[in-house]
Amino acid sequence: MTDQIAVIPGDGIGQEVVPAAVQVLDAVDPEFAFVEADAGDAVKESTGSALPEETRELAADADATLFGAAGETAAEVILPLRRAVDSFVNVRPARAYPGTDALRPETDLVFLRENTEGVYTGHESRLSDDVSTLTRVVTESASERLAEFACEYVRDRGEDRFTVAHKANVMKETDGRFRDAVVRVADERGVETDEALMDALATHLCLRPEEYDVVVCPNLAGDVLSDLAAGLVGGLGLLPSANVGPERALFEPVHGTAPDIAGQGVANPSATILSAAMLLEYLGHDAEGQRVRDAVEATLESGPCTPDLGGSASTADVTEAVISRL
Ligand code: NAI
Ligand code: MG
Repeated sequence: MTDQIAVIPGDGIGQEVVPAAVQVLDAVDPEFAFVEADAGDAVKESTGSALPEETRELAADADATLFGAAGETAAEVILPLRRAVDSFVNVRPARAYPGTDALRPETDLVFLRENTEGVYTGHESRLSDDVSTLTRVVTESASERLAEFACEYVRDRGEDRFTVAHKANVMKETDGRFRDAVVRVADERGVETDEALMDALATHLCLRPEEYDVVVCPNLAGDVLSDLAAGLVGGLGLLPSANVGPERALFEPVHGTAPDIAGQGVANPSATILSAAMLLEYLGHDAEGQRVRDAVEATLESGPCTPDLGGSASTADVTEAVISRL
């Protein structure tokens, strides 16, 4: 059956890197049906809505979505899009590739970040001129769902353990519940866990990233720790991500619209092409996903490369080089 892929380039370099990734997908699996839709600053200017209803519905119905980035309207676009696919986990690999100038070349991590709750549920109040509060939400069900995903994720990689990041020594009720639920589900499935206090983990990741592999985190901790890891591998142009739900998923580079280079044709397409490789694997095309990954890796190692990695190649040059290595 032909899988339907929603393609939402968005603003800025999204308009350059998403078509590049679609070209790569086209080269490996012509069975996909691509349907393109608008979102972001430009469409808000013309229609009044950063996320038109037909775009939201397209993502909610498609087998998978490939998204670029939105500018000022990023929150108006990406949060409802993640909800449209009912995404409960944000998968963020951070890997240092040979041939790139990574701060920590031995880094090869994957963050599995809770994507629905924690401190990002929007329950904030101003109680007085002096006092503001935030209510943090942690549920047993969301923690279990994340842990079940994590167990399957490590098993698929042929591994049997992951790290749980938390701060349950201070947030005894909320992170305590998170930790207990994740560890219990892993125990039931015969997956080993080690625990790390998230602040100490930040230091350890900088000093000895090679000691970690898959890290399961509450929402805010996952946001911060994965951005820290992005620094270790050197460059936003290299980091893909997946927002996975029970039946749908949305794939996007970690970077934004890069207004400083947008329109010049020099954006690094690697993050989006690697997101497309995750999309292929999500839809069961494991061999094709691996071929794309290998082609990106070979291109990063031997060139050509875009200016962010010290080269002078264009987005199109890099995309052609990846396709020729498939
Ligand atoms: P950014 O990721 O767009 O850019 C940060 C720096 O990294 C810039 O110097 C940029 O040129 C460089 N960079 C990013 N991606 C690159 C690529 N593929 N190739 C080469 N260089 C690259 O983050 P910034 O500047 O904080 O945000 C710019 C806009 O993007 C803002 O309007 C922000 O709201 C939006 N944004 C959207 C996101 C989304 O839609 N998911 C995520 C992050 C930011
Ligand atoms: Mg972030």
